Amino acid sequence: GKVAVLMGGRSAEREISLMSGRGVLTALRARGVDAHAFDPAEQPLDELKRQGFARCFIALHGRYGEDGTVQGALELLGIPYTGAGVLASSLAIDKIMTKRAWLAEGLPTPRHVLLHRGPHDAARLQAVVAELGLPLIVKPSREGSSIGLTKVTRAEQMDAAVATAARLDADILCEQFIAGDEVTCSILGTGEGARALPVIHIVAPEGNYDYQNKYFTDVTEYRVPCDLPPGEEAAIQALVLKAYRLLGCRGWGRLDVMIDAATRRPWLLELNTSPGMTGHSLVPMAAKAAGISYEDLCLQVLADAGL
Ligand code: DAL
Ligand code: MG
Repeated sequence: GKVAVLMGGRSAEREISLMSGRGVLTALRARGVDAHAFDPAEQPLDELKRQGFARCFIALHGRYGEDGTVQGALELLGIPYTGAGVLASSLAIDKIMTKRAWLAEGLPTPRHVLLHRGPHDAARLQAVVAELGLPLIVKPSREGSSIGLTKVTRAEQMDAAVATAARLDADILCEQFIAGDEVTCSILGTGEGARALPVIHIVAPEGNYDYQNKYFTDVTEYRVPCDLPPGEEAAIQALVLKAYRLLGCRGWGRLDVMIDAATRRPWLLELNTSPGMTGHSLVPMAAKAAGISYEDLCLQVLADAGL
């Protein structure tokens, strides 16, 4: 039947989603799937039913797409969709809820403090700095692609960093910075059938893997097969599989991890339930390293679509 590739949407990552969606659309069509672009920012979702779509490939990122809302609407419409269901999506979009779930099961994630939007006096911000140390990371709890993120290196920057994050979310995550290797690990499949793809070591100039260096420059180096010391890749794969299953994800996902340079311990940062599929994106890169083409990756994710 007809497949809708949901792309665009209303989040701050709209531009990225359009790039992901175009990639997925082209790949599915190349494999003979009757796929069509569908932008929920332009048409209400009940149009999917009216237009006779049998399944959806969700290539939306961020809020109103990766956060359980679209998933809930599709459940009500009875249209199977790719990726995580309602609960896992809404947990994973929220970095603070994600940490709470992982911490409850003893999985490692950097220490954090939650701030709510609204005026904070200097003493409160200084207390956060004292608790987490410098540098520290300030980011909106529910955003992607590093949008609204600041690496705070001096206490005086806290005010501006919190204001930047607060423009995007009422919940602001202040997180301990882990100095070391930035890696990411993608997962395909569901439950016991889920498996981890090769780990990618991301080497950005001065560690600055920001919005520009994620999508629009060619200065970031992606090492896959990765160059980590023996045993570390397998340990990270085992850890991320556990973290993925714990949130109850389905189909696919990608977990971002920092490895502490001093202790070599891995720390879980977050789980993306609708990972980027752009020409610069990481899941396609990891799949390729595992011998899975971009087209096969799209077909595999689509095959796992459910309700
Ligand atoms: N949030 C972006 C799309 C990613 O994680 O790939
Ligand atoms: Mg993300």
